[in-house]
Amino acid sequence: MILSFPHKLSLCLFASLSLYFNTSQAADISPNNAQQLAATNNSIRLGPGDSKVGYESENYATDSRAIEARKGVKADLIRVINTPPLGLPNIPVPADNPITEHKIDLGKKLFFDRRLSINNTTSCAICHIPDQGFTNNELEKAVGVEGRLGRRNAPTIYNTAYLDRLFHDSREHALETLVWSPLLASNEMAMTSIGHVIAKISKLPDYQGLFEQAFDGQPAGIETVGQALASYNRVLVSGNSPFDRWYYAEEPNAISDQAKQGFKLFTGKALCSTCHSIGKDAALFTDNKLHNVGLGFFRSMSVAKPEKETMLVAPGLYLDVVQSFRNTVGLKPLPDVGYYEVTQNPDDRWKYRTPSLRNVALTAPYMHDGSINDLESVIALYNQGGFSQNEKGTLNKTQSHIIKPLGLTEQESKELVAFLNTLNGDNVAELISDAFATPVGDTISH
Ligand code: HEC
Ligand code: HEC
Repeated sequence: MILSFPHKLSLCLFASLSLYFNTSQAADISPNNAQQLAATNNSIRLGPGDSKVGYESENYATDSRAIEARKGVKADLIRVINTPPLGLPNIPVPADNPITEHKIDLGKKLFFDRRLSINNTTSCAICHIPDQGFTNNELEKAVGVEGRLGRRNAPTIYNTAYLDRLFHDSREHALETLVWSPLLASNEMAMTSIGHVIAKISKLPDYQGLFEQAFDGQPAGIETVGQALASYNRVLVSGNSPFDRWYYAEEPNAISDQAKQGFKLFTGKALCSTCHSIGKDAALFTDNKLHNVGLGFFRSMSVAKPEKETMLVAPGLYLDVVQSFRNTVGLKPLPDVGYYEVTQNPDDRWKYRTPSLRNVALTAPYMHDGSINDLESVIALYNQGGFSQNEKGTLNKTQSHIIKPLGLTEQESKELVAFLNTLNGDNVAELISDAFATPVGDTISH
């Protein structure tokens, strides 16, 4: 049996919206969509992208607020260095980049600053949105400056301090060096060179003295920009979830009986903890290794393309679009063979690093390409045994031997979902508020 998952296309919102309305006969408007369109006052949607006022519908709710409505309180982020939250180990900190408050504050300022992009629009936080699980719940694949589409889903940056293999294909190994990828990628922040970033920051009046203060007199540079951003990223840890309180602090009622059954399946029949590891004193929910669980193979090798695809044209607004029309807008989907791109070894095709599952209820959509919308559908993929072959019988030779049909009942799948819902950390609201207390870069006067 081959399941087909709901597939949203995250085409550039700005281009596709007007394009769609001009060519509506080419697309198929389901009665639901038509009703939604009619009910919407489109003029209200032409305001700044941050405000989602006017988008409310039965299918869409968001906590995102316009910039002027973002009010928050600065948090004491450095405390987790000495006392990590329940369920998480000590945070590894590189010897040449000890954490200080000045570095965290500077890294945070950089993280939220749109002026770090070529056209002053795109900060790190445009894709790693604090109030959307430090990812983007509304886009399957990341969109950078000028609506340029990426080929992968933006993962959460919660708990990335513990990962020694970064990015879906594990091509990076340190938060300090990783930051240059998004800063320089033409479909992310699109700065033209390392020197360009450093020169731009050095000229901004509100950064005067801040690098020198944080780095013993050193100015902004290739190392200090990475070290500051990494320091903020490193303290975004999130644990002490209901699961942690039940499992590690032995509070019997911290999670429901249904979730306890889910835990039994997770660590037993469903084999999940073989890769999403749970330790005796702490749980990262990842083995920091790469595996092919079938989806990447299927996305690359499936021969049957659906006649229609559901396209997201604005938050909460989906349209069913026929393939022939879809092929005329946006970029063609880019190939993605996972870890093979790093090693050039055919045995590594479609392998991706196991993601942590902490806060997973907050970080939809899922998987390296964001093509699965909900946890029920992720579990359905595992329950069917991944994709061991495509429709023509071509075998997925690199699929993990651990992945096989599980024979989970509907009730058992629900229990697994109930368990996954117990993994939200207790400091989510605190980190959102801390983010809202940070300026986003004055894009008008600079
Ligand atoms: C245009 C959207 C976008 C912007 C802007 C962006 N990121 Fe990302 N981020 C992504 C995507 C997509 C990935 C996954 C890329 C991959 O695996 O190939 C990612 C991955 C990461 C990861 C690795 C997470 C993991 O689980 O391995 C970290 C850390 C990160 N980004 C931090 C940052 C920082 C810091 C900035 C700003 C300097 C930034 N990002 C800017 C989209 C973005
Ligand atoms: C063989 C190792 C392995 C096993 C077993 C496994 N996973 Fe995964 N899991 C992965 C990898 C690798 C990915 C990323 C795949 C991708 O991006 O295409 C992943 C992705 C996920 C995601 C998406 C997370 C996100 O942020 O995108 C969820 C949820 C998940 N797994 C839950 C489970 C559950 C529940 C089970 C048991 C039924 C399970 N996994 C079994 C390795 C595994």
